[in-house]
Amino acid sequence: MSFKAYFLCCILLLCVFWSDKNDGESDSSLIAPLDIPSTPSNASPTAENTLAVILPVTTTSLPNLRHILQPIVHPESASTRLREILLVAQDYDLPGLRATLFIIMSQIQFARHVHCSIRSWKYSHTESQALVQAAISSSAEWLLILDEHGLLTFDSDTQISLLNPPAVLVPLGPRGIHSSRNTSCLRRSKSYQQASYLIPPFVMPKSMTFQVGQQARSWGVFGIHCSSILNQGTSVGGLLLPQLTGTEPDMSWCMMNEQPVVGISSTPMTSQSLFEEWADDISPLVSSNIIPSDDPPDRFGIIFSTIGDLEWFAPVACSLSERGHTLQIALYESSSFSTGSDYLDLSPCMLSYETLSTGESPSKWLARTKGQASVVITLAEMTDLFEGSSRASIISIPRRDLQRTSWMSSLTSQEWRDWNVPQVTLSVITKDRPQSLARLLASITNASYYGDQLDIRVNLEQSSDLATMTMVQNLHWNHGRVFVHHRVIHGGLLTAVAESWFPHSNDSYGVLLEDDVELSPLFYAWIKMTLLRYRYGSNREKHPQMFGISLYQPKNLELDITGRRPFNVSHILHTVGAPLSSPYLSQTPCSWGAVYFPEQWREFHDYLTMRFSESAFELAQVVVPNVRSNQWTRSWKKYFIELVYLRGYVMLYPNFPEYVSLSTNHLEVGSHVKVRSKEKREMFSVPLMKLGDEVDLLNLPDRSLPKWSLLPVLNLTGVPTTLGKLVEFGMSRYSALGLCGKQEGTLDMHSFC
Ligand SMILES: *[C@@H]1O[C@H](CO)[C@@H](O)[C@H](O)[C@H]1NC(C)=O
Ligand SMILES: *[C@@H]1O[C@H](CO)[C@@H](O)[C@H](O)[C@H]1NC(C)=O
Ligand SMILES: *[C@@H]1O[C@H](CO)[C@@H](O)[C@H](O)[C@H]1NC(C)=O
Ligand SMILES: *[C@@H]1O[C@H](CO)[C@@H](O)[C@H](O)[C@H]1NC(C)=O
Ligand SMILES: *[C@@H]1O[C@H](CO)[C@@H](O)[C@H](O)[C@H]1NC(C)=O
Repeated sequence: MSFKAYFLCCILLLCVFWSDKNDGESDSSLIAPLDIPSTPSNASPTAENTLAVILPVTTTSLPNLRHILQPIVHPESASTRLREILLVAQDYDLPGLRATLFIIMSQIQFARHVHCSIRSWKYSHTESQALVQAAISSSAEWLLILDEHGLLTFDSDTQISLLNPPAVLVPLGPRGIHSSRNTSCLRRSKSYQQASYLIPPFVMPKSMTFQVGQQARSWGVFGIHCSSILNQGTSVGGLLLPQLTGTEPDMSWCMMNEQPVVGISSTPMTSQSLFEEWADDISPLVSSNIIPSDDPPDRFGIIFSTIGDLEWFAPVACSLSERGHTLQIALYESSSFSTGSDYLDLSPCMLSYETLSTGESPSKWLARTKGQASVVITLAEMTDLFEGSSRASIISIPRRDLQRTSWMSSLTSQEWRDWNVPQVTLSVITKDRPQSLARLLASITNASYYGDQLDIRVNLEQSSDLATMTMVQNLHWNHGRVFVHHRVIHGGLLTAVAESWFPHSNDSYGVLLEDDVELSPLFYAWIKMTLLRYRYGSNREKHPQMFGISLYQPKNLELDITGRRPFNVSHILHTVGAPLSSPYLSQTPCSWGAVYFPEQWREFHDYLTMRFSESAFELAQVVVPNVRSNQWTRSWKKYFIELVYLRGYVMLYPNFPEYVSLSTNHLEVGSHVKVRSKEKREMFSVPLMKLGDEVDLLNLPDRSLPKWSLLPVLNLTGVPTTLGKLVEFGMSRYSALGLCGKQEGTLDMHSFC
């Protein structure tokens, strides 16, 4: 017989109200271990009569309901999977919905096994909460969650895929969001793509709703919870269905969601590899080109005291999560007295965290969490709670510094792991300028050290005055030890600088500071960021030509034989096609605030010994042709320049707009400076980078320090060149000076001959 079976709906219409008996609950035991099939396309199809469609109906969509239901229930396209339709509406729309549905039933055919019922949308619920609540009440195993437009805007391929989904325990749908730095709507391609979360329509196993049902305040939050079920904190909350037909994907939905449309040109992953990666418990994000290739996914533990701490650190945490790292976040002494899970909603970034009960120490929590974190970031104030608890690198940041951490979002996981390796010493050289020294010491005390321990060495000349000596005696330093050295026979600046610091290991770094220098509160952040990038992480021991890091940006070229001239590196970077904001490498050593590296500093000592002993050639010998430093006397820099030239060494320089620097020089009368005019001061002093400045440390191309190979290189007179050429010039000068075959201390004279 011709079964015009809309009667089922009509029957249900009479008893539609969802009573809260929730008989689905007992199913929850069925879903425990997740078993991700190798690909959605070769996954087995879902069984017949197992799919529920959840459709919200609003005042605006109600008049169109017949049209909306048509492609879902139409006998030809309706799948045999379809078991029931749940219409979800606000109380004030319910009478209208019942009446409309009654009429519709008489107009269109429903496949005969399809039930249709109405669920009420609680006034206080968001759409996602209302739909997920309704979904939980369904008796089907698979859910197709729609928005108020149903499947209307989709091509028939997409409609068919959604109504006949494969049996994969992952949300699948045509609209996905990728929470990258800026939220982006994903553009469908020929293959499956991973999304941070999906927005309706999408299909998912009902089993997932039991675990995330209470946390569906938005589809973003829902996606986060889906992803945590899928695989312990991956940032993949669903898969974007491939677009099979060649038509341009419709992105208008994206505007509706107030998301900027960004077509992510991801290298299409095959669904095979995508699932393999899941199986390996790593969490690549959608577009693999966002993850720096030297930043393999890693696990981070983040444990602070209050939600306020986490908020300060959130930019860094979100960036870690965006790059595919797994974060486990906990708060230890929350003022809120509540324990359990919650999340910090910084849409599109969601940070889920646990609040620990008073009985549970951070160490215990770390041990309890799945998978071992390789880096644990915590408050310096909480460090004691971690004694001997973990083989992770523990990074303890004082609360005061948390708000100055945004630069850390550029660090790779390997750089984080190496956080505690470099040891920096501040070496101050002073004599009789107490006001200058006071300014330098105040700027040192005022800077952020992010919980690191740094020793200070103060080197007092024989002729130091009483005021200077007293000031040094009264120096309070909370971040390490203070060592004071006082000379008994006048040594001069060359000796004072050369002897002010000496490395004790290859991880020991000296910041040389003459007393007319002043530092930015962020100077150490710059040092830490650049050291970790170019000396540690994936660059360990890869760049032996680098001898230091400058804090200062020069406004003048000093070394040209024709005299000093103004210097604006942007012009040079422009000619070589480098980004104008790129830091660069230069052979010129900086003496107005810079870090020197252990290998070259040791070599410098040997070089000075060789030079002053005149064992290889006379003291008056010109080593570097045509540079002004040849006329300098008693200058340590003159000799350092020689070493740098012979070896082809380079120093990293910052290049922030308007010469904004991490140190400046006040050009005070002293060994170098005889007259101090305003004009002259302006030639040398530069603005210091301040906290909350428009210019921050990530004012860099792509907001991260460039790859080594992309750094522009300048020679001593400011002409662009290459590292290879510098070595070549040095070598030929080396042998021309007859240095080959000579040995002086550990100064290896053979290596370049
Ligand atoms: C993110 O969006 C902001 C504001 O829309 C924009 O200024 C910025 O350049 C964007 N950043 C990226 C990485 O796209
Ligand atoms: C210390 O840092 C604060 C914040 O940047 C700044 O306002 C203040 O001027 C600094 N004080 C000194 C002595 O440098
Ligand atoms: C330190 O570096 C020097 C020069 O590169 C090298 O010869 C030496 O072996 C290193 N020392 C250690 C302990 O690694
Ligand atoms: C340096 O040159 C760049 C590019 O020509 C220019 O935009 C910038 O203002 C210059 N900087 C200064 C401080 O003159
Ligand atoms: C820097 O390179 C330019 C161009 O090759 C050259 O003329 C100049 O002598 C070089 N400077 C030094 C100190 O070698």
